[in-house]
Amino acid sequence: MIGIAATAIIIIAMSVLASIMVEGWASRDVALRARLVFLAVHDQVAASVGDKSGANLVPFFDRIAEDERVLALGFCSATGKLELATSALPASLKCGNLPLGVSDTQSKLSAAGRTLRVSIFPMVAGKVSGHLLVIHDLSFIEKRVRKARLYTTLALIGAAAGFALLTFSVVLALTRGWTRSMRSFIAEFRRGGPTPCAEQGAFPVSKEISALLTELRVERKFANGIHVEWSPQTLHQLLEDEMPGAQVLIVSNREPYIHNRVDGEVQLQIPASGLVSALEPVMRACGGTWIAHGSGSADQETVDGHDRIRVPPADPTYTLRRVWLSEEEQDGYYYGFANEGLWPLCHIAFVRPNFREQDWIHYKAVNERFADTVVQEATCDDPIVLVQDYHFALLPRMIRKRLPKATIITFWHIPWPNPETFSICPWREEIMDGLLGSSILGFHTQFHCNNFLEATDRFMESRIDRENSSVSLGGHETLIRPYPISIEGPPAALAAQAPVAECRAAVRRRFGLPDDVRIAVGVERFDYTKGILDRMLAVDDLLSRQPEWRGKFVLLQVAAPTRGKLDAYSALQTEAVRLAEEINARYEGCGCKPIQLVIRHHEPHQVFELFRAADMCVVSSLHDGMNLVAKEFVAARDDNAGVLILSSFAGASRELSEALIINPYDTHGMAEGFASALRMPPEEQGNRIRLMRDQIRQRNVYRWAAQMLLDAAWLRRREGIVVAAKN
Ligand code: F6P
Repeated sequence: MIGIAATAIIIIAMSVLASIMVEGWASRDVALRARLVFLAVHDQVAASVGDKSGANLVPFFDRIAEDERVLALGFCSATGKLELATSALPASLKCGNLPLGVSDTQSKLSAAGRTLRVSIFPMVAGKVSGHLLVIHDLSFIEKRVRKARLYTTLALIGAAAGFALLTFSVVLALTRGWTRSMRSFIAEFRRGGPTPCAEQGAFPVSKEISALLTELRVERKFANGIHVEWSPQTLHQLLEDEMPGAQVLIVSNREPYIHNRVDGEVQLQIPASGLVSALEPVMRACGGTWIAHGSGSADQETVDGHDRIRVPPADPTYTLRRVWLSEEEQDGYYYGFANEGLWPLCHIAFVRPNFREQDWIHYKAVNERFADTVVQEATCDDPIVLVQDYHFALLPRMIRKRLPKATIITFWHIPWPNPETFSICPWREEIMDGLLGSSILGFHTQFHCNNFLEATDRFMESRIDRENSSVSLGGHETLIRPYPISIEGPPAALAAQAPVAECRAAVRRRFGLPDDVRIAVGVERFDYTKGILDRMLAVDDLLSRQPEWRGKFVLLQVAAPTRGKLDAYSALQTEAVRLAEEINARYEGCGCKPIQLVIRHHEPHQVFELFRAADMCVVSSLHDGMNLVAKEFVAARDDNAGVLILSSFAGASRELSEALIINPYDTHGMAEGFASALRMPPEEQGNRIRLMRDQIRQRNVYRWAAQMLLDAAWLRRREGIVVAAKN
């Protein structure tokens, strides 16, 4: 509408301008012609007016007036009398009414419905004195102006229509191209494939739309347009719908259930492992086989003739296949290469990585052993194999060689360092080559994906597609993707928990804590990456600077012994015990000890009771891939109370931004975090923890697994199409 109005205004303005120009030009033309007439007749008039021959001038004037524009000629004497006039000179024209002056003048008048122009030229020549009148009929100018207005208007309307037509055609072509692209995107989206990137489509579609479709694709099938609550059921359904009949195999070093012989009895232990707490619910939902190192003292007694046992023991839904390792193999592969080499290499905790040739040989051999076990357990040639963690960097390539059609999803549970740091590893190319045997390689964060791509760029002869985040090596493509791991929501260990008040009372009784003492908990493996010493120092800082908390604040530090054979771990344990004693001694006489260190394994239900009893949970990792303790604490607080103190160097801080984020290297800053948590009003605690609980409920571990499986399903479909096309 605005466009039409603007076009109309432009057309009117242009036609007015055209008529003004034509009128001006015609007027100048008339004036010029009148002057020419004057010059042509001047001498004749000078010679004839006033004598007898003057009468002969009339026919002469009449001849001149035959010109189509000149209507008439006349001559006014110096006395104002019309002495000569051609026949067409209007009778109403009187010399006395004209501006007869001493210079050339133009005068306009109307006569018989016409507009006339009278050009008046004074003449003084000899005895002749008077004014010559040349009268033009201006109606031709009006005609010309009307025509000019008409043609201009028509020309402009034509141009506007042409332009509109052109614009319409271009817009139509653009819209058709865009619609075609969107249709193919949506068709791909419905089929479950990844949304093509902008450059791939026939027509550029905005990156935002492409990203939106990618996001939606993950939850499309089970959402029906509504938000999905990912659960064991939806995950199971996903497998059935997207990969019917597919066999799922998981490989990890740590097994989900450990059988130990204690005092002659076989005891079941669930290990303190983020990996286990994330994957166990997924396996319960998906079924299949979990291949892991059988590390328990009673593990061999509890398996069948094929080293298998159905688990969970209370309600079996999947198979655990145990692999046996000699002590020498464990020393080289697990303690040596994995935990003295790769673990400190990938974590910025300032513990020197050690790489020994002998450890590397064991690492390779154990990876080969697990590859053979995968083949033994595979019931088809294209299973889905979920390879877990830094213990098995070489395994994806080894499986690929044995089962080329397998879909191998590798997840790296720890950070991936920058290329500079990674270059320390003497076998860096072999490690990367092994990982690039995967179909999909997952990390917790985009940052770690980027580090991996940078390292690939530096050390591998490969092709990196940054738009699609993939690496092609030897004709095989590996997708590099962030999948932030999580916990089941709500966690199984929460089901049997007593109300929060009872948990508090039980924990206070157990640790001898009066009612007015505020409780902070720390729960983890006794690992130098967790920042356990740093948080003890922060407790000391708080009590020294804010004495009102002496005897009123306690850190219950629960730490499961881990990797005790390694010096870095035993030294940490010794130092932690010493530091706890030193700090406790400093505040002796103030009431309860500020640091209570419990070095033993706790089962999940015991850990959850501690979480529920606490006023705050401290996760002060110096570096951590994700850290599921942070998420478990939040999930444990169904009373919407309690404060999470979380290191900015844990992957979880990217998602749980409502925690009090601290820098574990800043002792005083962490102490200030404790003080803020102690003073935080219940309403604020509730607001923060509710937001975090929502986040964990939506982005639970089933969603984590679903994202990987959906990408795997798409890859399998794509490979099917490629194979069909080749045949
Ligand atoms: O952080 C990576 C990780 O694999 C965790 O998932 C797990 O908690 C830990 O390392 C493994 O520890 P362990 O050596 O006791 O199996």
